[in-house]
Amino acid sequence: MLASTRILLIIGGGIAAYKALDLIRRLRERGAAVTPVLTRAGAEFVTPLSVSALAGQKVYGDLFDLTDEAEMGHIELSRSADLIVVAPATADLMAKMATGQADDLASTLLLATDTDVLLAPAMNVRMWEHPATQRNIAVLRADGIGMVGPNSGDMACGEYGPGRMAEPLEIVAAVEDKLAAGPLAGKRIVVTSGPTHEPIDPVRYIANRSSGAQGTAIARALAALGAEVVFVSGPADTPPPGGVEVVRVQSARDMLAAVEGALPVDAAVFAAAVADWRVKSASDRKLKKTQGALPVLEFEENPDILATVAQRETHRPRLVVGFAAETDDVIDNATAKRARKGCDWIVANDVRPETGIMGGTDNAVTLITADGAEAWPRMTKVEVAARLAQRVAEALA
Ligand code: C5P
Repeated sequence: MLASTRILLIIGGGIAAYKALDLIRRLRERGAAVTPVLTRAGAEFVTPLSVSALAGQKVYGDLFDLTDEAEMGHIELSRSADLIVVAPATADLMAKMATGQADDLASTLLLATDTDVLLAPAMNVRMWEHPATQRNIAVLRADGIGMVGPNSGDMACGEYGPGRMAEPLEIVAAVEDKLAAGPLAGKRIVVTSGPTHEPIDPVRYIANRSSGAQGTAIARALAALGAEVVFVSGPADTPPPGGVEVVRVQSARDMLAAVEGALPVDAAVFAAAVADWRVKSASDRKLKKTQGALPVLEFEENPDILATVAQRETHRPRLVVGFAAETDDVIDNATAKRARKGCDWIVANDVRPETGIMGGTDNAVTLITADGAEAWPRMTKVEVAARLAQRVAEALA
């Protein structure tokens, strides 16, 4: 519920502006008061009349509308809300925010505010993927600006890929999370999960048995405490949790790229079972079965995502957590691993087959930190996730 919360909704100029109308309804249904600001470009897509009728309030348009200044100055307008939502957030508006430009009411409000801001980006896939937009996104994230979406899918321009604005109910969920102010509110955390698939040829791959259950539970638990979670998942059996940004990957190299693309983050939790090796020069044609001859696969080492991120000189997350699945000398091996990888914590688990942990619902972990080893009682993976999320919240507080 959003009873008695005040949302300033900035509607940018893009085809997704029509969804902003539904967003206003959904926010108001939950008890929020919505003050709308429609950019000049936004008004090309939806009319001020529909916006103000749905919001039940006047719509603010231009910075130089002096009667507005007399009623409520732009500085006051920018600060009188509990949250500013920009939907759709266009590439242009995000570029203005990233560089601190203020040449219309929307960009001026965004520069003048000290309120939390949540963006729902929407743009053509090429614009989204353009290095300039990606640079702006990194700047905005580092400035503490929240984001929901964009989703992947068919676009109004006929292309396919990331760039569709999140659906109104997803934006409402992100608003609720942002205002819920759990102990991880305002913190951005990347979580890896699942196995990786390393191609042999276009139809065959090398994989492992990771189900993604523990990583998914951790992502869900962190999001429940208010974190903005980027969930980088290999092809796992467990479906990803709601309320997180999901980035699906196949190989270890894809996973590293996705993790680096999510930086800067406050914390990183690496729960994925990343393949240690990949096939050197995987074939782009299906390997043929030839009589009497067996293919010889040559391997090469995959990047170690945990070690790479833990040892970064720039944008190293404040807290880097790795996992260690061990069958012998769990504590010694995990302690050595913590040092070798350069991470802050290792969550070690005993995966001897008789424990039933691999693929099961339970887990028995030992948390290795700079202060030593702390054995947790056997509990479910969901409970391990909740406890770990709580510890992450304490560490980032
Ligand atoms: O070295 P080992 O695979 O046992 O280390 C396990 C930890 O390192 C896990 O947190 C796993 O997600 C991470 N890892 C990684 N990239 C790799 C291998 C492991 O991030 N290539």
